[in-house]
This record gives sequence, C-alpha cells and structure tokens, in this order.
Amino acid sequence: MIKRTILITAGPTQEPLDPVRYLTNHSSGKMGYAIARAALLQGCRVILISGPVALSPPAGVRCIHVQTARQMLASVLKYYKKANIIFKVAAVADYTPQKSSGQKIKKTKKRLSLLLVKTPDILATLGQRKKAGQILVGFAAETQNILKNAQKKLRQKNCDWMIVNNVAKKGIGFGADDNQVSLIGKNGENIRLAKMSKAHLAQKILKIILPRGQHS
Ligand code: CTP
Repeated sequence: MIKRTILITAGPTQEPLDPVRYLTNHSSGKMGYAIARAALLQGCRVILISGPVALSPPAGVRCIHVQTARQMLASVLKYYKKANIIFKVAAVADYTPQKSSGQKIKKTKKRLSLLLVKTPDILATLGQRKKAGQILVGFAAETQNILKNAQKKLRQKNCDWMIVNNVAKKGIGFGADDNQVSLIGKNGENIRLAKMSKAHLAQKILKIILPRGQHS
C-alpha cells in the first residue's frame, strides 16, 4: 500500500507587537499533536507545521516551527502539494498588528490604540487551491450556533470536513486533555463523538477520515 502523507497545522500563532509582546490565543497544540501521533501509528508520513507550543513533536514527524500566521501560510504553501489529507488544526490569529515596532513600545500618560489588520485565511486559501482527491479538514472553534457556524465555514472554505468543538464548555477544547467534537462532512455527514481524551479522539477521527481518503 502507498504510504499516505498527512499535513497537520497545530497550536496558536503569535503576532508580534514589538520585541517583547505579541497577540495570541489559548491553543495548546495538544489536538494537532495527537493527530500527528495517531497518523504516525497508522503508518502515514506526517508533516507538522506548528505554532509556538510547549510540546515536543513525536519522533518520526517532520516538524516545521513557525510563529506568525503569515509564516504558517508560507510553510503550508510549501508543503501542501505533497499531502493526501490536510488537517488544519491550528488556531490561527485572525488579526495582526498593522505595524510591529522594532523597539519596545514605551508607556506614556496617553491611551494606546492598536490598529489590527486581518491575517490571511490559510484554510480558505487551501480550499481554493486544493488538488483533485486531496481531503481538506478544518477545525472550527465555536461558542454559539455551533452546527450552523461550522456548516457555513465548511462551505465558505471549501473543506471536505469541518471538525467542530464548543470552546466555551469547561474541561474540553483549549488547553484541556479532553475534547468533544462533531464531524461535519460536505456530503451531509454529522457525526457526534463522545467526550474523550485528545489522544483517543485523534484515533477516532482518523478512523473515520482515513478510509475515505483511500483513493487519493
Ligand atoms: N483558519 C486559517 N486561517 C485563519 C483563520 C482560521 O486557516 N486566518 C482556519 C483554522 O485553522 C481552522 C478554521 O480556519 O481550521 C476555522 O477557524 P476558526 O477560528 O474556528 O474560524 P474563523 O474562520 O477564524 O472564523 P471566526 O473566528 O469568525 O469564528
């Protein structure tokens, strides 16, 4: 059997304000790293593009470390053509400071406003460029209208699957060891998985998605 290549992005991005400060989010990278580990165990070749996290990449994974959304996009565009399946698990910052100061921003007596500009949407870019047979999986973090928002993202970003979790619930999602997700497929699938460890969940997700990517 031909070894399949899985590309995974994981963790947050950090958007620098100056040499000592940045904007980021609560992503720990645990879900993405768990998928990387599970894919290795399934005999896949794994490319992991990771934002700054406190985890070590599993041995055997090709890991590329990035900091910003822009760097993540550049790295993804470099590697995506090799991938049969792409898991876009990273919590990419949606906005970045318009200007990053080369020097530390000093405090003054005045208020400080930050001007933020949108980062590139990496998943949507992949949705436009994906090759025939490539499977694109997004991860939606929602706090309300979970299903409706996930279906909208699935369509708008031209994904094959959107894996959605409620990040407002305690004990699952950002930073936690457990997660509870639903898999929304472009062919109308809606598979709700129970709450379980991210390691176990990664195996379940691959069990559902890998066989459908068999012929790519
Ligand atoms: N994503 C991305 N690039 C961005 C923002 C998001 O690739 N600049 C990807 C994430 O990696 C994830 C998916 O889009 O796979 C959904 O991310 P999410 O944060 O849930 O949604 P957004 O599209 O950012 O929309 P919103 O923040 O308004 O919910």
